[in-house]
Amino acid sequence: MIGLNIEKTLGFISKEDVLAYEPAVKAAQEALEQGTGKGNDFLGWLHLPSSISKEHLDELKAAAQVLRENCEVVVVAGIGGSYLGARAVIEALSNSFAWLVEKKTSPVILFAGHNIGEDYLYELTGYLKDKKFGVINISKSGTTTETALAFRLLKEQCERQRGKEMARKVIVAVTDARKGAARVMADKEGYTSFIIPDNVGGRFSVLTPVGLLPIAVAGFDIDKLVAGAVAAEKACGADVPFAENPAALYAATRNELYKKGKKIEILANFNPKLHYVGEWWKQLYGESEGKEHKGIFPAATDFSTDLHSMGQWIQDGERTIYETVISVENPNHSLSVPTDAENLDGLNYLAGKRVDEVNKMAELGTQLAHVDGGVPNIRVSIPALDEESIGGLLYFFEKACGISGYLLGVNPFNQPGVEAYKKNMFALLNKPGYEEESKAIRARL
Ligand code: PA5
Repeated sequence: MIGLNIEKTLGFISKEDVLAYEPAVKAAQEALEQGTGKGNDFLGWLHLPSSISKEHLDELKAAAQVLRENCEVVVVAGIGGSYLGARAVIEALSNSFAWLVEKKTSPVILFAGHNIGEDYLYELTGYLKDKKFGVINISKSGTTTETALAFRLLKEQCERQRGKEMARKVIVAVTDARKGAARVMADKEGYTSFIIPDNVGGRFSVLTPVGLLPIAVAGFDIDKLVAGAVAAEKACGADVPFAENPAALYAATRNELYKKGKKIEILANFNPKLHYVGEWWKQLYGESEGKEHKGIFPAATDFSTDLHSMGQWIQDGERTIYETVISVENPNHSLSVPTDAENLDGLNYLAGKRVDEVNKMAELGTQLAHVDGGVPNIRVSIPALDEESIGGLLYFFEKACGISGYLLGVNPFNQPGVEAYKKNMFALLNKPGYEEESKAIRARL
């Protein structure tokens, strides 16, 4: 289960001040439960884990099996909330060298539609030339340019390489029930398709088919992932007392730190497999809270790698930051430091120790050093990198985000700011319907 330790923030904020958030947190939780707060049409994530049926999971597993049986490679096309959750879970659970392993037990999962890099797409389509590949096209709106562009290329290539009939089998759509080009295309082509519920926004959608289908295709146990999220839903529930509720305490602590001038939260991990959990978390908090000229800036680092780059700034730079460390209690494998008779590297003092013990001392040493340097530290711990723990971690962050956004006084469930670049891009590309904007933007160039 999720562990939360805020002790190392207490030299910077007081426990009393955190505990004083209890009534505000209660109000935020009530607003979520009763649907009376801002953005209340997007609360489908709140009790999503406990409402997922066995039948739904079986349907997802059956679709995943078709892709697993017919594809060496599956490309997941999506961006933002339609991409990051799946990638976060798959990378956290996969062998770090999965794509190099010769005897593969699952298709290689690749991602597209999250950038407009010509070289990226050229190289991807080049790699796929002699591969039996399938595509999961994920877009709630069904009209996102990055994803639609990648899908157009992948669909054409898949049909050309594998024939129309097989392409129809190995292309799956995850989109809105009714609206958008992705829905129109899925229905017209006869693709297997899954629905993204209207009331679940992209960044809260990892436990819908958006995340669950690619995760199942990658060979991970979505029953366990959901079970972990269900456990976190209970542990973070509105009926759990404030001081025992990790989501409530995390939300209160970060708001108090923000009030005391800590404007940047760095989510740090000590396990490279958590890199994309950091990316997912950045979207979750950045899009939910960064509005009305308010909001903690979410940053993420991979330690100890980034201690050799960002470490200097964190230890010694401007004191507007705090850190939240995700700590994985137990590694999945065991590896000890060997003894070396010559000890030329001077590492015999570590001989016989698990590599993880070295890592844990790096973690503890870093936390203490950063606290000494003026950086409050929150510790979030999970038992292991497995489906239950990751499912629990994701739900914990979602619940805390909903509460935290309400404490901040914003609508945590919209993202009006992401439209500005799209409007300009469409105007610059002369998209039909943007004639006036095209004229106006060209006058500025
Ligand atoms: O959180 C969000 O709403 C966004 O990040 C979207 O998920 C992202 O823009 C992709 O949108 P769509 O699923 O409509 O293609």
